Amino acid sequence: MKIILLGYMGSGKTTIGKQLSKKVYAPFYDLDHYIESREGASISEIFKTKGEIYFRKIEHTYLKEFLQENDSYVLSLGGGTPCYAGNMDIILQEESAHSIYLQASIPTLKERIQRNKEKRPLVASLSDEKLTEYIAKHLFERRAFYEKAKHTIPTDGDLDTIVAEIRILLH
Ligand code: S3P
Repeated sequence: MKIILLGYMGSGKTTIGKQLSKKVYAPFYDLDHYIESREGASISEIFKTKGEIYFRKIEHTYLKEFLQENDSYVLSLGGGTPCYAGNMDIILQEESAHSIYLQASIPTLKERIQRNKEKRPLVASLSDEKLTEYIAKHLFERRAFYEKAKHTIPTDGDLDTIVAEIRILLH
């Protein structure tokens, strides 16, 4: 089973991915963690010392490497992964993979991002007021990429229901 979860920061990719992986008996991976272990540095450190352009390059390289080397997974992408370097095309070329856009409302995204904003370099320095505006604009720019996924699942609701809905669409 190959499942690729994508969506904005705070859409639930990691939480849903971990739960789903147990149900479908496929190992869970998080592309950000994969990058961190390969680079020996946190995402925040990579952004700080090498910059976003470098991050986008390695994100692309490690995504391709991961897809080549694994044939059973629930993979949670970074929020920006589908939107750079032709990554969404690479994802869609994995014909046997189920790509799923986890779609949450702006208030839900904001609430979840605020829980660990400091780990997310793109929003770490924004005030709460600016955060809503930032998410709205950024999501507007990104959603055309996310919407290319094979499936879309709303993720404002409760975890068990979301995981059950995903399992239904996989059948
Ligand atoms: C990013 C999202 C982050 C991480 C990096 C950039 C983005 O992942 O890849 O900070 O561009 O939206 P999460 O969506 O898991 O927070």
